[in-house]
Amino acid sequence: MEYREIGKSGVNGSAITFGAWAIGGWMWGGADRKEALEAILASYDLGVTSIDTAPAYGQGLSEEIVGDALKQLPRDKVQVFTKFGLRWDLAKGEFFFDSVDNDGNAIKVYKYAGKESLIEECEHCLRRLGTDYIDLFQIHWADGSTPIEETMEALLRLQEQGKIRAAGVCNYTAEQMRVAEKVISLASNQVPYSMVFRDIEKEVVPYCIENKKAVIAYSPLQRGLLTGKIKPGHVFNDGDTREGNRFYSAENIKRINAFLDEIHPLASSKNATLAQVVIAWTLLQPGITLALVGARNAGQAVQNAKACEVKLSNEEITYINKALGKLELVF
Ligand SMILES: NC(=O)c1ccc[n+]([C@@H]2O[C@H](COP(=O)([O-])OP(=O)(O)OC[C@H]3O[C@@H](n4cnc5c(N)ncnc54)[C@H](OP(=O)(O)O)[C@@H]3O)[C@@H](O)[C@H]2O)c1
Repeated sequence: MEYREIGKSGVNGSAITFGAWAIGGWMWGGADRKEALEAILASYDLGVTSIDTAPAYGQGLSEEIVGDALKQLPRDKVQVFTKFGLRWDLAKGEFFFDSVDNDGNAIKVYKYAGKESLIEECEHCLRRLGTDYIDLFQIHWADGSTPIEETMEALLRLQEQGKIRAAGVCNYTAEQMRVAEKVISLASNQVPYSMVFRDIEKEVVPYCIENKKAVIAYSPLQRGLLTGKIKPGHVFNDGDTREGNRFYSAENIKRINAFLDEIHPLASSKNATLAQVVIAWTLLQPGITLALVGARNAGQAVQNAKACEVKLSNEEITYINKALGKLELVF
């Protein structure tokens, strides 16, 4: 495994970081807690020392499972990334969306990152994770109802108190990062990035390269689609929000699978799976520091962790990029 510094924070993360959204079940049609724990532990055994979670993932459940894993792992060898700023337990800030929790109850999700709220959230995170510090604390989504400066000042207080080692953002534009930087030195921006969703290459990546910020790429498998296993008509569990997602239309699934068919021989020649080639490609893109890859069970986790053993030459990258250049999705 390769380890890379998250910006200039002094915190190193594993290039392949365990993404703990799906294991919280919420928006993924449920999850198996025992398999989830096994997935984290199997990842760690292969050098995946960083884990990304959030309070919103299963309304605390994902963080609790990560906490279970931490009980079995040396705390100082693991980097825990979690988040704040999405509230389902109070109606404050900017309304985000209506949802349903794991028990089938309707919930309303708000973006809220007022000072007192994130300080309270930090305590909840520490309790659920069963730790006394967070390696990287990130705002989950920009909250238009709170000045960015207020949120960043609160993060600075938490950093001074030693409750968080590094401060990061998610889903921020380059301009929002510039405003935040007036108050705090950010370590990273966690943003969506996959072979088929590359919007961040325009502004966020150049800003992060220039200012030495880490880009933490999320959903690099486009939530499973880039493994090649999803076919048109795929039946998802109830509550799995991939159904109806714009990348998961029958036409886009067909087009993405045609692209995957083109790179399949390359993967086979390396005894690699498509998912491994996709992850390896992601980590070679300019400015990308870490790839956050979700897994529901040890089988997926081991396969993904071993992507770091897949080496792609410049010619192979060019070949993949040529095939990607022909892929047009319909939105
Ligand atoms: N900050 C944010 O706003 C934000 C947003 C999204 C994600 N994230 C973070 O990024 C992480 C990764 O993104 P993601 O989980 O959305 O998507 P992803 O990593 O692209 O895909 C993960 C999903 O793909 C399937 N999968 C994974 N490995 C597989 C394999 N080897 N073979 C077959 N299927 C496999 C699994 O779902 P199935 O088995 O159900 O198919 C898994 O849950 C998240 O867990 C979260 O930590 C952050």
